[in-house]
Amino acid sequence: MYRFNFRARIENYRKIMEDRGISISLFAPGSDMFYLSGIRIDTFERLTLLAVERDSLSLIVPRLEVQRVEDQVRFDGNLLDWTDGEDPYRIAHSLFSGKGRIAVSGNIQTRHLLRILRDQSLSGIGISDDLLSILRRKKDPEELKSIERATEISEKALELTLADLREGMTEQEAARRMSDHFMELGSDNAAFGTIVSFGKNSASPHHEPSADPLIKGNVALFDFGARFSGYSSDTTRTFFYGSVNQKLKEIYNVVREAQETAIEKALEGTPYSEVDAVARNVITKAGYGKYFFHRTGHGLGIDVHEPPYVVSGNLERIENGHVFTIEPGIYLPDTGGIRIEDTVYVRNGRCVPFNKYKKEMIVL
Ligand code: CO
Repeated sequence: MYRFNFRARIENYRKIMEDRGISISLFAPGSDMFYLSGIRIDTFERLTLLAVERDSLSLIVPRLEVQRVEDQVRFDGNLLDWTDGEDPYRIAHSLFSGKGRIAVSGNIQTRHLLRILRDQSLSGIGISDDLLSILRRKKDPEELKSIERATEISEKALELTLADLREGMTEQEAARRMSDHFMELGSDNAAFGTIVSFGKNSASPHHEPSADPLIKGNVALFDFGARFSGYSSDTTRTFFYGSVNQKLKEIYNVVREAQETAIEKALEGTPYSEVDAVARNVITKAGYGKYFFHRTGHGLGIDVHEPPYVVSGNLERIENGHVFTIEPGIYLPDTGGIRIEDTVYVRNGRCVPFNKYKKEMIVL
């Protein structure tokens, strides 16, 4: 686990709170809480909240989870623990009674939110997600190292999985092997459910691995990511197993050209909508526009999908420190699909892929 500077993150977030006139921000367990404190816990239905104020930091936490928190980080604030049978909402109320504007995280459970906000006037309440995302979208060196390592592990796992691959192996078996290789190679876990799709199953971009076997003449699409030090990777490669279908060979080259051109044209200052348009134009000119029906990419960090999104209508501009994917695809119903995805970071105004795995057409 890399050492992230949580104190600096809290301080930077306090500046945003001050700008927006917010006196207290509440975060439920999830990526934002991890970003600000290093605490990653799932406490099911028991109330757990990180409360950031201008001059103090508190964690409301069930007593039985205190040890787990202390195993993860040295928490630099007040631990307000409660035991089963006590009313945890009283602690929350005592924190913000008489305070000004409140921001709450979007992932807070409704059953908690309604009780926490009892007696509060709703006009003074906002959602904090967009505020913290101002910080989260610019990655620091430790974050980049984490994503780089996650990518390295995942590409090594791909090599090992391809070496395991046999005619007749099911998609589920291949996906399971990939997860095993992630763990053997030191990953925290898989960042998301690995997608393995053989043959025409690849025409569905988020196909769930099934019991369908690999047979000669199939395409084999792998969309996979490992997590390391709390950060994700996300990569897609599509291979041919045995003889290559002429049509799919043609679209492979179109997708590859779209993917590489978009990476080249994604320079600092370019709006994300334009990067999407670059990839889309290559595919549309080749006559496959209507078979590319998702955005070109997404930001990536603690979450596999986070801002900035590479999508039409997003006028936000590329900045140094941003991390995002470029993953155009063409999906022909009843034939199959091709997608190629790299995760890139922006340095000195240009996109640098974390990925090293080659993009030439490979027949297994
Ligand atoms: Co992706």
